[in-house]
Amino acid sequence: MPEKPWNGRFQEKTDAAVEAFTSSIDTDKRLYTQDIEGSIAHCRMLAKANIIDEGEAESLIKGLEEVKEKIEKQEFKFDDSLEDIHMHIEDALTHKMPENARKLHTARSRNDQVALDTKLYLKDVTKQVLKGLKALRQALVNLAGEHIYTVMPGYTHLQRAQPVLLAHHLMAYYEMFSRDAKRFEDGLKRMDENPLGSAALAGTTYSIDREYTTRLLSFSKMTSNSIDAVSDRDFILEFLSSASICMVHFSRISEELIIWSSSEFNFIELSDAFSTGSSIMPQKKNPDVPELVRGKTGRVFGNLMAVLTIMKSLPLAYNRDMQEDKPPLFDTADTLMSCIDIYARLLPEVSVKKENMLSAVSTGFLNATDMADYLVGKGIPFREAHSCVGKAVGYALGEHKELHELSLKELKVFSSLISEDIFDCLTVENMINRRVSYGGTATENVRVAVEAAKKELEGKQVG
Ligand code: ARG
Repeated sequence: MPEKPWNGRFQEKTDAAVEAFTSSIDTDKRLYTQDIEGSIAHCRMLAKANIIDEGEAESLIKGLEEVKEKIEKQEFKFDDSLEDIHMHIEDALTHKMPENARKLHTARSRNDQVALDTKLYLKDVTKQVLKGLKALRQALVNLAGEHIYTVMPGYTHLQRAQPVLLAHHLMAYYEMFSRDAKRFEDGLKRMDENPLGSAALAGTTYSIDREYTTRLLSFSKMTSNSIDAVSDRDFILEFLSSASICMVHFSRISEELIIWSSSEFNFIELSDAFSTGSSIMPQKKNPDVPELVRGKTGRVFGNLMAVLTIMKSLPLAYNRDMQEDKPPLFDTADTLMSCIDIYARLLPEVSVKKENMLSAVSTGFLNATDMADYLVGKGIPFREAHSCVGKAVGYALGEHKELHELSLKELKVFSSLISEDIFDCLTVENMINRRVSYGGTATENVRVAVEAAKKELEGKQVG
């Protein structure tokens, strides 16, 4: 039975049920790399500050590296009675070098240690997220690049509204995921503060060198308030919030891919490799990947709620409640990474049924706004033009025709200002290419936007 670090004060041994209940080792063992990295930096600093001697530091570092190797080779025994990864590593070191290992925890507490480990972990995860988002944005831009001339109905209220280019629609997601990347980048800056040396909550009596560990651990600065440093989990909340917003975007694109692949829309088809079948209905080809991504949004939102609730009303500084931050954090990090990764692979597997998209544009009066704009061009105020076209739509509905299928004579009934040139303005090509306002769907605009995005991804300055 391993010895508890707090043995001095206690006469009875911990109840086995309490050990099992309080243990977090199953979850936090994945922080072993960060824990060892932090301990090595701490050792070096203790030696530099003459708190331990060089020889002691060297043997501790060697011992820590051996523990790491043992964990990596899966030869390490985890045990609930040792609570968490910090105590496991210290205990393993104590078995190797009892005298030296007992000095490692000088000027340190598990409170600054866990804050440090979690920050080191999350800095790394955030960098991976950023890398993944870049690949995803690249996949979106590639698909958009293939569809600069593909026209589809744009929707509001899920009713056909106005034609847009598929590339324009896809680039809307590019914007969303680019904002996500900026949010993660911003969070990264804020979490880049080293808490090590804050000790339990009040700092330490030893003359430690926090700037040195800050450099060794590649933080850009150190935290300025020891109480805040050990009780702050804002960096986790920010990551979970950014992840939740990112999942909103995934959920929206997923919903679109799902409905677009239905027989009712029939706009796209996902490759066989990215679809699944039904065990009972032989004809089915199901979009399970986007459905699961949409479904995983639930746990990511839930994880944010969990940590907000854990942190709310906690008195300063460290409270054991905070140990509950890790399962939701790890779950969100894993879920988000898996969604980013699968989407970067899925997007090239989308094949677009251009004909169906185009034919959906030619019915449903998508050129009604263009007809109103035409009348405005002839000097009619927009509201009047709107009402005029409304009447024309009503008439065309009765005739089972579209606006551009009405004759000039029929159209003139709604305004004498209408002449032959109306038909040009009602074509799909015109509807797209006249929307030249900055950020609009005109082909030239979209082409420029796709090019700018490509340059942005290559890291070149645009504009
Ligand atoms: N396992 C703990 C956590 O994850 C580590 C810190 C424990 N500190 C303490 N004072 N009990 O939060």
